[in-house]
Amino acid sequence: MGTAFFAVLFWISLTLRQELAKSRDEVSAYIPGWTAFVGVVIYGQILLGGLVASNYAALACTDFPTCQGQWIPTLEGPVGLHVIHRLGAYTVVLVILANFLVMRNQPDLLRKNSKIMGMAVLLQIGLGISNVLFYTPPLIAVLHLAVAIKLFFLAIKQTHFAKCANGLNFRSPVVIRDALS
Ligand code: HEM
Repeated sequence: MGTAFFAVLFWISLTLRQELAKSRDEVSAYIPGWTAFVGVVIYGQILLGGLVASNYAALACTDFPTCQGQWIPTLEGPVGLHVIHRLGAYTVVLVILANFLVMRNQPDLLRKNSKIMGMAVLLQIGLGISNVLFYTPPLIAVLHLAVAIKLFFLAIKQTHFAKCANGLNFRSPVVIRDALS
């Protein structure tokens, strides 16, 4: 809930800052829907991470890439939560790779954003694996959470930009006031 609340505040701040709203860039018609999908996938993975942490399932598997020496462990109980979070992470990597390819022909900001997302997700996987192998040291656990939020905010930023492009600007109150006066 906290993440969702800060996401809404971030969306409002992007709108008020008007940085992206000034955009005259054109994006393909499917891009706003695609960027929203990427955001939902990342948010889902954050929810799974929260479930792992709050159910003390972090150390249900202390090896990687196997879990308790098994390639196909159970999907039940704390081990299941841990494994589902790993499967979610692989899905997020694939989606962010696809995002990188999709953004290759899109405006500069989207291309750059997709590269940063690619680097951030690799870092996140490294932090996740370190969490497991080093028994969740606080610094790694905090960094893992911080990079998760960063990834989600990058997804929101590209969604906001996509919605602002093609003249479909989300107008901030200031812009609306100026337009009316
Ligand atoms: C895109 C990839 C990933 C994202 C966005 C992500 C996100 C998160 C989030 C938000 C949490 C909750 C942190 C908290 O509430 O303190 C979490 C916990 C955790 N994640 Fe990930 N994660 C990813 C990949 C991975 C991978 C690949 C692994 C392991 C191989 C992993 C292992 C863990 C563990 C062990 C915890 C529990 C940490 C604790 O209890 O302190 N994560 N993850």
